[in-house]
Amino acid sequence: MGSQASERLWWRDAVIYQIYPRSFADGDGDGTGDLAGVRSRLDYLADLGVDAIWFTPWYLSPMADGGYDVADYRVIDPAFGTLAEAEELIAAALAVGIRTIVDIVPNHVSDQHQWFQAALAARPGSPERARFWFHPGRGPGGAEMPTRWASPFNGETWTRTKNPDGTPGEWYLHLFSSAQPDLNWDHPDVRREHEDVLRFWFDRGVAGVRIDSAALLVKDPALPEEPANPGPGEHPASDRDELHDIYRSWRTVADSYPSDVTSGERILVGEVWLPDVDRFVRYLRPDELHTAFNFDFLARPWDAAELRESIDATLASHAPVGAPATWVLSNHDVTRPVTRYGRADSGFSFEAKRMGTPTDLELGRRRARAAALLSAALPGSLYIYQGDELGLPEFEELDNTLRQDPMFLRSGGVDPGREGCRVPLPWSGDAPPFGFSPAGAAPTWLPQPPEWAELTVEKQLADPGSMLALYRALLRIRRAEPGLGDGPMIWFPAGDDVLAFRRGPRFACVVNLSDRPVPLPGHERVLLTSGPLAGADLPSDTAAWLHAAPQRSTQHDQ
Ligand code: NOJ
Repeated sequence: MGSQASERLWWRDAVIYQIYPRSFADGDGDGTGDLAGVRSRLDYLADLGVDAIWFTPWYLSPMADGGYDVADYRVIDPAFGTLAEAEELIAAALAVGIRTIVDIVPNHVSDQHQWFQAALAARPGSPERARFWFHPGRGPGGAEMPTRWASPFNGETWTRTKNPDGTPGEWYLHLFSSAQPDLNWDHPDVRREHEDVLRFWFDRGVAGVRIDSAALLVKDPALPEEPANPGPGEHPASDRDELHDIYRSWRTVADSYPSDVTSGERILVGEVWLPDVDRFVRYLRPDELHTAFNFDFLARPWDAAELRESIDATLASHAPVGAPATWVLSNHDVTRPVTRYGRADSGFSFEAKRMGTPTDLELGRRRARAAALLSAALPGSLYIYQGDELGLPEFEELDNTLRQDPMFLRSGGVDPGREGCRVPLPWSGDAPPFGFSPAGAAPTWLPQPPEWAELTVEKQLADPGSMLALYRALLRIRRAEPGLGDGPMIWFPAGDDVLAFRRGPRFACVVNLSDRPVPLPGHERVLLTSGPLAGADLPSDTAAWLHAAPQRSTQHDQ
């Protein structure tokens, strides 16, 4: 691929680092992370070796859902900084070779958004209400909500309004919390506004957009109940066929920007949680989204057959649409890998999250290191959630009174919520705030566990055996190895419960998920291992990157 073409197609094998701005680094000392903090740590990201940053929402927001309740897309929340700072940050990141991806939340807005405030103030049937899903209730006096649709946040999906005279009024739909009213995507204002927002950020040099809850925007206007076992496209509020036209229009907007050497192609990345891979990849057809998060892989337990099945299904389903796969071990919504992989049930599901699940962190750490090598060697692009490169565990001991996540609050405390993976990063020093905030700052918005003194960036940079050292090494090798990133892979046998595959002329990745050591396949050189080898053997829960022996001897080894 020529250098211009590879600039244009940068996203096919990019390493994208996810920043949760509240918890990355605090520049102004208020205990909350901000853009000044990110700016001051750009060198860290460049040295880590990432190609792009995805920022979770940084817009004006009451933070009822950590910024996924946007009050104004054209204003940066004052807790994070200003629009001028965002523009400077985008440029400063590009200057060190890092592109920026912003988060767009098209399914809903904040209840403080001026459209919703205007809708509440207006009468039933008004144009202001038509941008949302206002509806009379069912039953006597309209006292029953219009549907019983389930919420990913637990709890109800409709809230009743009050009329100006205080009597109960219409209901409005919110698939998430009541502070996040759903927009009506049949309304032309809603479509026009979002295309303007895309242009607003593309004009400021962002290289891409991550689309929140991308499969939920369109609703069946007849508001039927959810069928018990909906077939493809039959759910009233998920994966409706009409969505594809919306993303075709968005693609036209993205493609209207020149793919010059600095920004390359402007991309659309979907947050699409769908169990059916064939429905999933329909969003990735050539005139729709560029990529989407591969949650199937993230959700699988640490088990060779499960992971292999997910990898094969991912690659087979992406091939016909020509889209690259993405590999994602975690994000700001899920249990950290070090914790997850240390549990008897090492898969992930929102429904199964519970407080107090027994966890072997040492085992989890070993597996998370091996998973890092596995995911970085697979074909496509790679996402790293801030703090995973430090091996941070989920902070489960957080005091319940500090939990603000609607997933926790709306479950009546049954679901622990997502704060445990959103704790401010430890940078340096031996005590909180571990360099997250400057000296003399206010306490961090969530407390940091004192034992994270062992996990600071400073400590890990000085330790060649640390998780950070592993991530830096693997990203350096990933960039240099011709077979890695986009392109084919070929499995080869290396023992029961061992995942082994070749990339390019001589690269091989071997991951031992069995409970005993296995001989390393024939090789000329070991490039990197996730843990110490046992002589010529690869121990359990360990991965190795190799330069393979020439083809003939590899076949012999098989
Ligand atoms: C998905 C986001 O990742 C999550 O954090 C948010 O709560 C929901 N969408 C609702 O916007």
